[in-house]
Amino acid sequence: MKVGVRCASVVRRWHRGRMEIEALSEAAVNAAVELWGRVGLTRPWNDPVADLRRALAGPASTVLAGWAEGALVATAMVGHDGHRGWVYYLAVSPEQQGRGHGQTMMAACETWLRERQVPKLNIMVRGDNTTARSFYERLDYVTDDVVVLSRRLNAVE
Ligand SMILES: CC(C)(COP(=O)(O)OP(=O)(O)OC[C@H]1O[C@@H](n2cnc3c(N)ncnc32)[C@H](O)[C@@H]1OP(=O)(O)O)[C@@H](O)C(=O)NCCC(=O)NCCS
Repeated sequence: MKVGVRCASVVRRWHRGRMEIEALSEAAVNAAVELWGRVGLTRPWNDPVADLRRALAGPASTVLAGWAEGALVATAMVGHDGHRGWVYYLAVSPEQQGRGHGQTMMAACETWLRERQVPKLNIMVRGDNTTARSFYERLDYVTDDVVVLSRRLNAVE
């Protein structure tokens, strides 16, 4: 299933990067998780397969997959909570980085959210991920003056 990614920037990059974007299929789940491991997005305390399946099954989320020459080269998990959109697991395979694929995936996520009338996109970036921070700044994302608080709900009480 092709997703609606026909905003101007996507079309421009689409041709330049020769990447096709569609919702991730079940057959590509392992390839996506392998890609996330290769680019350092997985952590021992998170279950990436469960994250992925939850996002694919939910009514307000999906995982976009970018394909080039038959290979999975990029992913992005996008969803919204009714108020804000979120993107997780943005990844471009190391050998395909620097070709505009990351920007194209973000444009696809933005289009996906706009189509659902979501007014704002938030991204959580680990503080030490300077590469991602530079990338998002290049795409005109700004650092908000907020503090993110969290609590693990699966911890033994
Ligand atoms: C972050 C990431 C997705 C970027 O993907 P990419 O395909 O290499 O990025 P693009 O080629 O689309 O770059 C888009 C723009 O950002 C800039 N950019 C990309 N990485 C950059 C960096 N490390 N520093 C500065 N600018 C950067 C590019 O120069 C480009 O700008 P330009 O249009 O002026 O040339 C990729 O590096 C990646 O997968 N990293 C590992 C996973 C990760 O950290 N994901 C983010 C989790 S929050």
